[in-house]
Amino acid sequence: MDIRTALKQGLARLRAARIPSHTLAAELLLLHVLGRDRTWIYAHPEEEISPADARRFLEFIARRSSGEPTQHLTGKQEFWGLEFEVTPDVLIPRPETEHLIEVALDRLAVREIRAGRKQTFSGEGLQIADVGTGSGCIAIALAKELPGARIYATDLSTAAIAVARRNAVRHSVSDRIHFLASNLLERVSTAETRYIVPLLDRAKSVAEHEAPATSHQSTLLDLIASNPPYIGRREAATLMREVRDHEPEVALYGGEEGYELYAELITEAAAHLKPGGLLVLELGHNSLPAVQPLLDATAWTGVVVTNDLAGIPRVLAAERL
Ligand SMILES: C[S@@+](CC[C@H](N)C(=O)[O-])C[C@H]1O[C@@H](n2cnc3c(N)ncnc32)[C@H](O)[C@@H]1O
Repeated sequence: MDIRTALKQGLARLRAARIPSHTLAAELLLLHVLGRDRTWIYAHPEEEISPADARRFLEFIARRSSGEPTQHLTGKQEFWGLEFEVTPDVLIPRPETEHLIEVALDRLAVREIRAGRKQTFSGEGLQIADVGTGSGCIAIALAKELPGARIYATDLSTAAIAVARRNAVRHSVSDRIHFLASNLLERVSTAETRYIVPLLDRAKSVAEHEAPATSHQSTLLDLIASNPPYIGRREAATLMREVRDHEPEVALYGGEEGYELYAELITEAAAHLKPGGLLVLELGHNSLPAVQPLLDATAWTGVVVTNDLAGIPRVLAAERL
């Protein structure tokens, strides 16, 4: 079978199975099987593919037709211009989440300018947390953009943390990201003590180090970013089967309504941020009315909502007073 025939067969089968973006899916699966790029396959439509590759491609087409996401078959997804390993243990990074990275970087830059510091900003000395890291896409994108920052990345799922760790190694930032199996930020304060002590002057005694580390335990972070699970269980029937049947429930559902996790997250964030520290949250398509009132004016200022390309309020950012 040649490339043109394989592609035609693949996309006809996906179209018949009513798979969204069937042409792109067929292309991505063929590129993955052949280990080639898009330009190459369109420049070599007559090239014969081996029977083993043809069989593998058609198996992938059958699995995609039955609802498995393309990214679970290829094992990868691009986010913020970087390629991430994905498995069924993690949420597939979504393009909307890139807005969260943009907002976080913009707000940090504004904070620097307001403080009269230089505008070329490497994040030197910043302490950041990514809550619910999944594939690690947020923590890793921030680590790439802010080479001077140190990042905590938490997740309830140890299987997700294993994937995120591999992604951090792949992108050469594993020395600056501290992964923690934790409910929200629970383990960050205890980890801080252990994490900071080795960075302090090694000549001093451990006893001397522990006192200051515990005394400012919960006010150390400059930025907390999170894309928490925010879909309501009552909406499950409306989800695409690719999402409902193949992505981890712990990554999808925030509770019966969807927005349940934000209250605890905002309370914990208030306790963990420095004055002037930033909280940047991704929102579900209908979360804003439930979440914005949680940012009460006694603790938060500079609350800004950013819409995504579809006009949906997608990112909520606020500064700790
Ligand atoms: C919507 S996914 C986001 C994954 C990744 N940050 C991204 O943007 O693609 C939410 C993540 O939060 C994790 N999670 C759910 N509940 C959590 C909790 N209480 N504490 C920490 N992580 C949690 C899930 O395991 C999942 O990896």
